[in-house]
Amino acid sequence: MSSPKIWTHKGTFLLAAVGSAVGLGNLWRFPYLTGENGGGAFILVYALTIALVGIPILIAETLLGRASRKSPIMGMQYLTESHNTSRNWRAIGWMGAFAAFIILSFYSVIAGWAIHYTGLMFSGSLVGADAATIGESFGDLLASPGLLLTYHTLFILASGLIVGMGIHKGIENGLRFMMPALFVILLIVLGYGVVAGDVGAAMSFLFTFNLADLSLEGWLQAMGQSFFTLSLGMGAIMAYGAYMSSEASLTRTAISIAFVDTAIALLAGIAIFSLVFGSGLEAGQGPGLMFVTLPIAFAELPAGWLIGGVFFILVIGAAITSSISLVEPVAAYLVERFGLSRPIAVTLMITFCWLLGLLTVFSFNYWSEGTITHDWFGRSPFDVLEFITNILMPLGGLLIALFAGWALSREEVLREMSTNDTWFQCWQFLVRFVAPTAVAFVFLRTMPQIDGYLIPAVGSVLLIGAFTAGRTFIQQRQS
Ligand code: PFF
Repeated sequence: MSSPKIWTHKGTFLLAAVGSAVGLGNLWRFPYLTGENGGGAFILVYALTIALVGIPILIAETLLGRASRKSPIMGMQYLTESHNTSRNWRAIGWMGAFAAFIILSFYSVIAGWAIHYTGLMFSGSLVGADAATIGESFGDLLASPGLLLTYHTLFILASGLIVGMGIHKGIENGLRFMMPALFVILLIVLGYGVVAGDVGAAMSFLFTFNLADLSLEGWLQAMGQSFFTLSLGMGAIMAYGAYMSSEASLTRTAISIAFVDTAIALLAGIAIFSLVFGSGLEAGQGPGLMFVTLPIAFAELPAGWLIGGVFFILVIGAAITSSISLVEPVAAYLVERFGLSRPIAVTLMITFCWLLGLLTVFSFNYWSEGTITHDWFGRSPFDVLEFITNILMPLGGLLIALFAGWALSREEVLREMSTNDTWFQCWQFLVRFVAPTAVAFVFLRTMPQIDGYLIPAVGSVLLIGAFTAGRTFIQQRQS
């Protein structure tokens, strides 16, 4: 047997996991959700979830990857066999792969919007434009399937190219160049925001904690966002963990990932809201915050076109370092299981995701509101995909927490974690009890949105999940 593939340096896993974590979730979703949910209180809940649920699951997911040294699907097969647990836990690997397809399919389309805006900014075509014109230009982009498809294709090809070159030449080299560059760009945009915008207003919006501002929906959205931003529950971290050096500390690495990811979301938030408030605009614009509100601010600021262009390059780069972590788990599986060459495995994965991405592309034009095809169980195809993600990520996280917390032996966990007893017990308590309870809350958020045909579908998934967990538990008790 060939020796397992390992990242070149002890710290590369940290770099790769931060690359996966920092993406559209930090730069696009976090600011707009914070804006919609009243600022500080949202951030408080988000940070608490990251600390109490995110970090323990991050440790668990990395541990599963490193303990198996295989792709998530094969890794779960190996772990269930070597630990004599129920085969049903393999669902973790399969669900993760399924989620990777779905997320990449729409992630790529949205990242494509940033390509369009980079062009718009650098060409200067938005300089001095008024709010109505900028709003219309976003509408025009969404109305054009041709444009959306072109950007979607470019983005997914770039992601595939990097993963196709292998974990050392492609992923590692790419990350080593892109991550520092992205960080420098973020600092430039932040500096600009502080000078040209209203940083005082941004700080008080982000750091005034008034829990009464937060609705139940806001609480649950904050928790859902903490899963998305840490790339949890779907095998991306497990796949990268498989290449992690045995010497690196799981706990310290997981805390560092969560810290850097949160810091970057906050820095992006400060930059974006400084510019938005400085131009007298509103925070609660929803998903259009980055693609309409922010360009309106850039349009009237000095050298706004230049910094705006640089900012959208940051968005594209951060999205690529995340999307490659969505391609890797499936590509690695195809290589391991069917002996395909890496380029062929990657081509298969991205071709399928590209096709699935058509659903998102057409959701904004041919199948937009008012057309018959718009209505898929009461929502647009894009909304359905996002909705499935909202279910799969917490569910995956829950299963990972339960598997690592209950099914793996204490010795196995301690061997990987090599930590002291107090910390181990603290981690175990969090993955056994706190994380599952928190995930139940995230589901609460999703449930009221369920209507029509989705009830039976989601009900069955939950029933199967509950049945599987129950059976597994009983089997373990018996053995
Ligand atoms: N964490 C990424 C972001 O915040 O944009 C999104 C993501 C990447 C989710 C990879 C899941 C994943 F496996």
